[in-house]
Amino acid sequence: MSVTPLQALPLEVLRQRSSTKWRKYGDDVLPFFVAETDYPLAPAITRALTRAVELGDTGYTPPAPGIRESFVGFAARRLGWTIDPSHVFWTADVMMGVVEILRLVIEPGDRVVVMTPVYPPFFDTVEEAGGVVERVPLARSDSGWEIDLPAVESSLASGATAVLLCHPHNPTGTVHPPETLAALAELAERHGAVVVSDEIHAPLTHAPVAFTPFLAVSDAARRVGYAVTSTSKTFNLAGLKCAVMVAGGDRQADVLRRLPWEVEWRTGLFGALAHIAACAPESDDWVDSLLEALRLNLDLLAELLADHLPEARFVMPEAGYLAWVDLRAYGWGDDPAQTILESTKVAFHHGPFFGSEGVGHVRINIGCSPAMLREAILRVSDMVRS
Ligand SMILES: Cc1ncc(COP(=O)(O)O)c(C=O)c1O
Repeated sequence: MSVTPLQALPLEVLRQRSSTKWRKYGDDVLPFFVAETDYPLAPAITRALTRAVELGDTGYTPPAPGIRESFVGFAARRLGWTIDPSHVFWTADVMMGVVEILRLVIEPGDRVVVMTPVYPPFFDTVEEAGGVVERVPLARSDSGWEIDLPAVESSLASGATAVLLCHPHNPTGTVHPPETLAALAELAERHGAVVVSDEIHAPLTHAPVAFTPFLAVSDAARRVGYAVTSTSKTFNLAGLKCAVMVAGGDRQADVLRRLPWEVEWRTGLFGALAHIAACAPESDDWVDSLLEALRLNLDLLAELLADHLPEARFVMPEAGYLAWVDLRAYGWGDDPAQTILESTKVAFHHGPFFGSEGVGHVRINIGCSPAMLREAILRVSDMVRS
């Protein structure tokens, strides 16, 4: 059955938005940096939030908001993941969940493995939790990236106590295969380390690739792991503040029960309402339409790069709407996003922010209209010609 791709809102409407994507730069800049998308909200979310606004329902999030139950249903339907509801906890956002879990499972000064290039807040988050970042770059192959298991093992063997996994990985879009994750879990268990898996991009895995949650790969993963995720990337809800933490087993659930009560209390009521609407079966068709729009845009990006920036190196992401593009061949410096912004008023994300592996790279958010994506690549290709 064919799925109709979701249509992004027109640029003149998006320019009226007040979020970071549309307000960091002036109206003369086309934004592709932060991970916000340009689509209308899923109808069930619009209805839930409109009703709350009409009621002036803007107070505190209640003690049992329904975040847990709705996520358990969503995970079973969309991710093939069976979760014990007593293992689900909630907080305001994914990075807050990661910080709070790390605070409980590491000692100050402990080393935490982070696989670069990676979503830049991973570095700050480990430090905020009192840890020290241990950079273990992903291994590069012609077909993509993979976890460098021997390098992770050597970090764990020499005393690193936790791994902060990004699955699917931002910025490369890598969906780690279950065998690799199972091997990672075994290494962690052997060396007494914990794995915290950030799975925020999981619902946007592109078929035929299949996503397996870290906590679903093996008993060892469930013994060493926690997952943190949110509907906020898929449904563009980052400003509303709701995320979930999932314990791998009863032991970790006991650990999460030790979190200060404020960690749950900080969850936004609009975040909770939107999360519940996002997780409802009636939003499934919207996600399928979004996936179709993203797939078409990724194909378009590949085509535009091949035609207009043939020296760019790009591997199709297996999940999400972020494209990691190597522009080193063009000699636009360590941070081509800066050069491009100054020359063309197109704002890509800065590769070096993701670690030294990001030198000469940009990250492009393709969650926009095909026309806007085309305009950006054509403007950048003018730089080559001039
Ligand atoms: C891998 C990853 N984790 C976390 C986040 C941020 O999530 P939150 O706003 O819920 O902290 C992002 C945002 O793009 C992300 O890509």
